Amino acid sequence: MNILILGSGGREHSLAWAIKQNPKCDRLICAPGNAGMAEIAECAALDIEDGGAVVTFAEENTVDFVVIGPEAPLAAGVADRLREAGILCFGPSQAAARLEASKGFTKEICDACGAPTAGYARFDKAEAAKAHIRAQGAPIVVKADGLAAGKGVIVAMDLETALAAIDDMFGGEFGAAGAEVVIEEFMEGEEASFFVLCDGENVLPVGTAQDHKRVGEGDTGPNTGGMGAYSPAPVMTDEVTRKALEEIVKPTVAEMARRGTPYQGVLYAGFMIRDGQPRLVEYNVRFGDPECQVLMMRLGAQALDLLLACAEGKLDEARVNWADDHAMTVVMAAKGYPGAYEKGSVIGGLEALPEDSSHMVFHAGTREVDGKITANGGRVLNVTARGASLQEARDRVYAMIGGIDWPEGFYRRDIGWRAL
Ligand code: AMP
Ligand code: GLY
Repeated sequence: MNILILGSGGREHSLAWAIKQNPKCDRLICAPGNAGMAEIAECAALDIEDGGAVVTFAEENTVDFVVIGPEAPLAAGVADRLREAGILCFGPSQAAARLEASKGFTKEICDACGAPTAGYARFDKAEAAKAHIRAQGAPIVVKADGLAAGKGVIVAMDLETALAAIDDMFGGEFGAAGAEVVIEEFMEGEEASFFVLCDGENVLPVGTAQDHKRVGEGDTGPNTGGMGAYSPAPVMTDEVTRKALEEIVKPTVAEMARRGTPYQGVLYAGFMIRDGQPRLVEYNVRFGDPECQVLMMRLGAQALDLLLACAEGKLDEARVNWADDHAMTVVMAAKGYPGAYEKGSVIGGLEALPEDSSHMVFHAGTREVDGKITANGGRVLNVTARGASLQEARDRVYAMIGGIDWPEGFYRRDIGWRAL
């Protein structure tokens, strides 16, 4: 079959890498793609948030299956346009994508289905929000309701920070995303992510992971999109996983179906776990980046069968073949990230690295210039490996990094410290 993947990051490179290995995949196109994807697939320039343009492109190229990577096209309704055109597609409808696009909506769903989560209140006026913060005290969490590229959450350890966040949000720092805010109880515990495929009715877990959001070693410094991840997450024991499924994920999926907006795609649930009890921090309606990279490294070619079963509504017939393995990915970023950074520096040494079912360098932000791989983003490479233990996966990753010649880049040397 002909398959189109929408997106241009490390997440989409890892999806392309896994899908390409499945014999069902005849032709693979990535739009817009990056230099890493260009090595294994055709890349096409396409405005992936324009549903009409995506449908036209898919029809012209006789695409049988579209996999939507990032949240923006989902929130823009690209999956709806594809389904209306009769094209098989992996990813939720615009209505179901509200589980990521509106934090207030997610809270409403949690209330309706009884899923454990932080206590909260919603506001569309600064004065009332501030009065609530003063009444609650710190620590407290302030969130812009809408999509803010991962930057709309302020975990305030003191009142001044929380009140300043209100001024920033209603002052337009996050545009329309901040027109409404959700103020939440601060939850303590250990965080983990859980990835579940949903076909509207059935759910199928495809892995757990933990990431490192802070830029600096020891989990210090500013927040980023994620500096590294590993799977599985030890804190997601069988009992925590069972509770997460029965108390949070399944009730959410049932509530979405009951409302006439069934959820189809991957549901990425972020939990705070304390004393063996998971509580929902947030939903995302796509795979995590870089969490997807470790999931794809573990799933390999079967990922395509699972995504197809999900899109076709046949998850009740699907099974995951688990190897008893571990995977880790370490992000190499351009110096300066998550602040200002330069593009265009040349990355050497990649050709000599192993590329097999246990080693892969996924490209997150690269561009080929005159036959050389150059940095073209903040997060640039995801050095990823698999092993019989997390320690083995980690040793492989850092050995690969040792072979990469990129003085303008940096990475954290402590990915996985919590689990090791
Ligand atoms: P989110 O974008 O909702 O995942 O929030 C980003 C990060 O903020 C999460 O990964 C948590 O580390 C933190 N966070 C969000 N909500 C809470 C909360 N209610 N209590 C404690 N930490 C939170
Ligand atoms: N790594 C966090 C995310 O993809 O949202």
